[in-house]
Amino acid sequence: MSDIKKIKDEYLNKLDKDQNIESINQIKTELFGKNGIVSNEFKKLGSVSQEERKKFASDLNFIKEELQNKITSKIEEIETKEINLKLENEKVDVTLPERDFKQGKIHPVSQVIDEISSIFSEIGFSVEEGPDVENEYNNFTALNTPDNHPARDMHDTFYLDEKKELLLRTHTSPVQVRTMLKGKPPFKIIAPGRTYRSDSDQTHAPMFHQVEGLHIDKDINMGHLKGCLNYFIKEFFEVDKLKMRFRPSHFPFTEPSAEVDIGYEIKDGKIIIGEGDKWLEILGCGMVHPNVLKNVNVDPSKFQGYAFGIGIDRLGMLKYGINDLRAFFETDYRWLSHFGFDPLDVPSSYRGLSR
Ligand code: DAH
Repeated sequence: MSDIKKIKDEYLNKLDKDQNIESINQIKTELFGKNGIVSNEFKKLGSVSQEERKKFASDLNFIKEELQNKITSKIEEIETKEINLKLENEKVDVTLPERDFKQGKIHPVSQVIDEISSIFSEIGFSVEEGPDVENEYNNFTALNTPDNHPARDMHDTFYLDEKKELLLRTHTSPVQVRTMLKGKPPFKIIAPGRTYRSDSDQTHAPMFHQVEGLHIDKDINMGHLKGCLNYFIKEFFEVDKLKMRFRPSHFPFTEPSAEVDIGYEIKDGKIIIGEGDKWLEILGCGMVHPNVLKNVNVDPSKFQGYAFGIGIDRLGMLKYGINDLRAFFETDYRWLSHFGFDPLDVPSSYRGLSR
């Protein structure tokens, strides 16, 4: 019994100094575990003589209680300390001023692409995409623009290899080729995306955006092309009246080809679309050349249709009164917070439906 009293003092001492829950639990096992020191003392009870047993048992119970109380109070003490420390460190000072909050804006080009896509989807066009790095065949040859064709020089192409087999696409027209090669007619798609030409001034940037349109089916004619473009331009500029003219032009991949101008006037420094006697060119179009259809395994005696290519940046500049194209791509936050759109802005063409 004197041994166990010594052990008790030793452990009380240890527990006093200890500051760690794990080692306290370890002590608990050492004392009260299956083979713990105190547990073993209890096992000795049976071999103690009748007279001594009562005292032995009560001393042992006393020691047991003393050690257990010490363990419980020590654990409580450490836990309280930890909680207080945590509270101290994680204290929130509600009197501090709030942090500056900056909301992102949607770039006008993304906004215009969304608007264009939703307007065309209303009349059954789906959206296709193609890569910025194209091969020379899709960008030119398949589009009836063979080597040495003067149209190739007009495109100021960025070539990516010496053999001139890879390039940055100069227009979105190669998506026509990709779409028709992978599917079967009819086709009714638009393809918005980035395009590249070595050109830079107030109205030209080396990277710019176009949207391609392609509608191939049986008996499609120029009347359909005209109706489609008329609908699109009115919806996009949100006007009821539109003056539109088709000017004969030339593109290797269409026959006949045309450029489309829309009528406008300037009133109080603002551009008004659909009125006045000035003309603004906004897109190129035409009936897809039979050679293009043959190149993509579509039989031109059965299927025909129209295509068009529109400059997206130009449309955005006109609609939202932005006069320098280069600002689009300078990533100036002040410019973006002025001309950008809030994420919850609904494209104008949805307005009738949701507001
Ligand atoms: N790809 C032409 C360009 O970049 C634009 C164009 C004209 C596209 C006529 C067409 C089209 O699909 O039919 O200048």
